[in-house]
Amino acid sequence: MYRALRSIAFRFDPELVHAAGLLGYRIPRIHRRRAGGTVSVMGIEFPNVVGLAAGYDKDGRGWRGLASLGFGHIEVGTVTPQPQPGNPRPRIFRLPGDRALINRMGFPSDGADAVVRRLGGRRPDGLVLGVSVGPNGFSDPGRAALDYETLIDRFAPLADYLAVNVSSPNTPGLRSLESGPDLEELLHRLVARRDRHLATLGRALPLVVKLSPDSTDLVSTVAAIDHSGVDGIIVTNTTTRRPGVTFAESGGLSGRPLASMSLETLRRIRDLTDLPLIASGGIMTADDAQERLAAGASLIQVYTGFVYEGPHLVRAIARLSQ
Ligand SMILES: Cc1cc2nc3c(=O)[nH]c(=O)nc-3n(C[C@H](O)[C@H](O)[C@H](O)COP(=O)(O)O)c2cc1C
Repeated sequence: MYRALRSIAFRFDPELVHAAGLLGYRIPRIHRRRAGGTVSVMGIEFPNVVGLAAGYDKDGRGWRGLASLGFGHIEVGTVTPQPQPGNPRPRIFRLPGDRALINRMGFPSDGADAVVRRLGGRRPDGLVLGVSVGPNGFSDPGRAALDYETLIDRFAPLADYLAVNVSSPNTPGLRSLESGPDLEELLHRLVARRDRHLATLGRALPLVVKLSPDSTDLVSTVAAIDHSGVDGIIVTNTTTRRPGVTFAESGGLSGRPLASMSLETLRRIRDLTDLPLIASGGIMTADDAQERLAAGASLIQVYTGFVYEGPHLVRAIARLSQ
């Protein structure tokens, strides 16, 4: 069924199909599929190990319907403080032969106000809701820190966890935060900001950082994260490299060609820290997910695998934690 749908959908522009799909997911389902056993990570009870990675529901339009497919968690965003259009289209490309995507979205966002409005209200049973946050454009690290702080304040009451995105390749300068000497200072500041909300919330609000697979200095990056008080790491975002792929468009590559780089990065980071790790990058099958769990990940996130394989992939991964 999903294959038939996909073969029709793949004749159209990727972003158009995506928007149409999200419209469908806006119709909330009543019954939420239950599969898998709960896992406790960073002080939060997740109904299963599998989540939807950031970027699929950037503006919080479809998360309630998407939850009915069996995701244990959904990461909305990346949201920026003010609305912004992102890069000119086309900015998503399919590479079906490689089971990959290339995107250079550049954080199109409806902005914090609109997304805050969409995250309130009824929550599907047990669903863990993450919000990924990023700065408007990028001028300098000080400005970016202010944007992250604003977003922490806006989303603290609504999110179960917050993800600091310092690894999108499509916002020029952003990745300099990830490997620069200022990372620890930035994260310290954001942890302090998060801490201000804890007493009012009366619950945990983990802060996680999402890293790229292209980082040149993982040892110091992970040391900075470890010292900062951050609660976990998402490993990884897309790559600007083109391992085994010949395709001229610029942007971040995701899907199967990213798998070995992401897994390798996960293994290296596992050796460097005891923090909980969330695996993302080229997870196209339940076996891929199992391999990441065996390599030390506590949770799994899918994006491109979900586009190519559909909801059965979500259920197959959810069952791993039974
Ligand atoms: C079209 C597209 C948009 C994305 N947007 C974001 C984003 O806004 N924030 C983010 O942290 N990651 C974003 N990502 C990265 C995904 O969350 C994921 O980490 C990456 O694609 C690797 O996983 P995959 O191979 O399963 O797709 C995006 C990916 C795609 C394909």
